[in-house]
Amino acid sequence: MSDTKKPWGGRFERSPSRFLDEFGASLPIDQRMWAEDIAGSIAHARMLAQQGVIASDDADAIEAGLSQIYREIRNGEFTFDIADEDIHMAVERALTERIGPAGARLHTGRSRNDQVALDTRMYSKKAAASLTRAVVDLAETLVGLAEKHLGVVMPGYTHLQKAQPVLLSHHLLAYFWMLSRDATRLKHAHAAADVMPLGSAALAGTTFDIDRQSVADRLGFSAVSANSMDSVSDRDFLLDLTYACAVAQLHISRLCEELVLWSSEEFGFLVMDDAYSTGSSIMPQKKNPDFAELSRGKTGRVVGDLTALLVTLKGLPLAYNKDMQEDKEAAFDAVDTLGDVLVVVKGMLETATFNADRMRAGALGGFMAATDLADYLVGTGMPFRQAHEVVGKLVLKLEGEGRALQDLSAEEFAAADSAFGADSPTVVDIDAVIARRTSEGGTAPAAVTAQIVRARDVLAVDVAWLETVATE
Ligand code: ARG
Repeated sequence: MSDTKKPWGGRFERSPSRFLDEFGASLPIDQRMWAEDIAGSIAHARMLAQQGVIASDDADAIEAGLSQIYREIRNGEFTFDIADEDIHMAVERALTERIGPAGARLHTGRSRNDQVALDTRMYSKKAAASLTRAVVDLAETLVGLAEKHLGVVMPGYTHLQKAQPVLLSHHLLAYFWMLSRDATRLKHAHAAADVMPLGSAALAGTTFDIDRQSVADRLGFSAVSANSMDSVSDRDFLLDLTYACAVAQLHISRLCEELVLWSSEEFGFLVMDDAYSTGSSIMPQKKNPDFAELSRGKTGRVVGDLTALLVTLKGLPLAYNKDMQEDKEAAFDAVDTLGDVLVVVKGMLETATFNADRMRAGALGGFMAATDLADYLVGTGMPFRQAHEVVGKLVLKLEGEGRALQDLSAEEFAAADSAFGADSPTVVDIDAVIARRTSEGGTAPAAVTAQIVRARDVLAVDVAWLETVATE
């Protein structure tokens, strides 16, 4: 039997064992919400005093006591005891120990069910904003690299087979747009969390004459929740946040997969900085892209976090159920993991060296100008299907000879088909192939330059949003 007196002790003759106390506790997980818990309690006490539910002297004592606890926790002077079960009871017990009876009035008109929803929403808002900041930082790195390497030509792939040449900048910017959508999802998660649940109490509201809007105002919430039962059982905001993390991880996983491929000898498109590589304990020559691999690998756990949260919530009856205590471990893990991965990948990209010569050489192989050659024949009046056939035959012949389209003279082109004119060799020039793709969003230098302008505009919007929210 545990010797700590429970706040609900009145109704009980026996308490759970120490083992059950530990099994039932969320303190190791939710203690990170200590600042939110204290801020929420101060706002609640102030509102109770404003409404005449508790005396202002009591609210003053509560605020002073909670501020004292805030300092103790911040300075590492506070001892958490798992017998307190969760952060809410740890703070309340410490408060009552310090200020006596006034502390025991704090929980008037409140339940841990609305309290935990409040703390978690405050935490989620901060986490969504910090992750948006980190996503924007990585997105900015990608635009910077796209600007720096403008002009570097590389093979573009479909089915991981050489398809058409593209600019390295264009390829990198594809990831910029993924991250930009991640920022949008995180901003949505922030908005979803920005609804104030306190005052819902256990599930049905409270008999006290409370002012929920004033609590929302004090804590910087945009709205007050509409239904007390929904308020204490809604974790959609955590799903939104964890989903945003999972999708961002998935994008980073794809990027890291390419970085791993590109740093292989076979590709040779980039060299990872030593600081982002590790060696082998047995093979002296090895230099492995461990951090790209691990960042890719972390995706599994974040997707797992989302799955865990979805399955935890599935089938729960209204309103609060203790199952919901499992929500935070998954969501916090997703937030922590993505936060670290974003920093790792940004550093990795900033320090990697792109091998422009290898990329360009790669772009000359694979007959990637074949589409342009067929389009050229169409320009001479040949039906596209016939042009496709002519070029396909030419490719087959050159493949057997171990030659590239760029190796052909005008005479050889003409010999392949009389529709090929003297200008045929210029058609397969790799820079010309890229420069022709001027359609909006295409890979021509002019289109990519326009894309960079658009990317910078989008970034500016996200940066402006970040200035309106708290990240710390
Ligand atoms: N530790 C709990 C959680 O994280 C707080 C709410 C507990 N409420 C209750 N009625 N047991 O969900």
